[in-house]
Amino acid sequence: MKILSIETSCDETAVAVIECSGEFENPSFKILGNSLLSQIEIHKEYGGVFPSLAKREHAKNLVPLLENTLKQSSLYLEAHLEAHLEARPPSKMSNKKIKEIEKILEREHGLFEKLKELLSKIEIPEINAVAVTYGPGLEPALWVGLNFAKALSSVWNKPLIPINHMEGHIFSVLMHRKNEFQISNFQFPMIALLISGGHTELILIKDWLNYEIIGQTRDDAVGEAFDKVARMLGLPYPGGPHISTLAEMSRKEYLRSSASNLRKSAFQLPRPMINSDDFDFSFSGLKTSVLYKIKKLPKITDGIKKEIAREFEDAVVDVLISKTKKALQKYNAKTLIIGGGVVANKQIRLAFSNLVSKTPSDEKIQLLLPESSLSTDNAVMIGIAGYFRFLKEKKSPNDFKNLSAQGNLRL
Ligand code: KG4
Ligand code: ZN
Repeated sequence: MKILSIETSCDETAVAVIECSGEFENPSFKILGNSLLSQIEIHKEYGGVFPSLAKREHAKNLVPLLENTLKQSSLYLEAHLEAHLEARPPSKMSNKKIKEIEKILEREHGLFEKLKELLSKIEIPEINAVAVTYGPGLEPALWVGLNFAKALSSVWNKPLIPINHMEGHIFSVLMHRKNEFQISNFQFPMIALLISGGHTELILIKDWLNYEIIGQTRDDAVGEAFDKVARMLGLPYPGGPHISTLAEMSRKEYLRSSASNLRKSAFQLPRPMINSDDFDFSFSGLKTSVLYKIKKLPKITDGIKKEIAREFEDAVVDVLISKTKKALQKYNAKTLIIGGGVVANKQIRLAFSNLVSKTPSDEKIQLLLPESSLSTDNAVMIGIAGYFRFLKEKKSPNDFKNLSAQGNLRL
């Protein structure tokens, strides 16, 4: 079956079509189309995501992205061409359907007009369902994608599959080998560490779609801490990649000068909650420590920025590794999944690869990381999660007519 998927939970507008087949235990996936527009440049000047701007941009971008994705997937059939070739009339939207989608999209500025124009040009594409993120995230942003998906589900009479964005990040690790993936004997229990701009969670997965949150941040998310520290150092939003680049430069410089000093920094930072008895995290104190260090300095030179970035990144890595290791041991996990935008961080990827390679062979743990293009928000992961949900819950087109966006949705 082909799933059209839509993601608008934050500052990325994304649409994909995934071809999915196979049973729950052995599905396979192929990306047929995948389009994404990032709003980073627009939000940069605000130093973070500005919700009403994000909403407006999603409404502007969804129809062009849908059109592009359908073309990539060879599902874009012009109505008149089809009619001409097959001597049958193009699919006409009934007035009732038009009124219905106008009502669904009444709060999404300009989206109804754009969608109506596209729908009048094309045949109903051969998709089987529409999957969409309905939380967690920024509610105004989530609503645009959800209403868009509801409108498509209604006008094309396809089932709607609502997806939790964090479940999407979990499934993002399943897509490998460029565009295709076949699941091969993943073993349970699994531990998933989700690290993004809004979340830091350790999750126990006893079976597909069966989640228990065993630990989470008590204040800032990891990505949020990266972004805030970056801001203190005068780096642009989102700061994670900039911190990571500076930290890497610092490590290389230290390696060149004196290897024995590699882990000693003049800016020692704490490792919050590293020895606590639970699986919770706290990153707000780490960020404040950076602030205090900076305040004492007469000038923040480029050299100091690099050194702070390295020590901050090391502190984050130490805490993430320590807590995850404890969770793997306690639950006797066979698989470790790491998902969320912060997985793009090279040092974090390296540290987890080392952790897993060091485990004794009788306790072997399989590490699953998303390929870098799928670590930040995208619609591919929503389509994959959609297939699992569809297999489990088999829905019909009218099941989610009254569904609301849920900014604080939990797994
Ligand atoms: O998952 P995501 O794209 O959006 C949310 O759902 O939050 O994650 C975005 C977060 C941002 O905080 C960004 O700074 C962080 O991921 N990030 C990184 C790196 N690349 C992105 N953090 C550290 N190192 C990176 N290389
Ligand atoms: Zn995300």
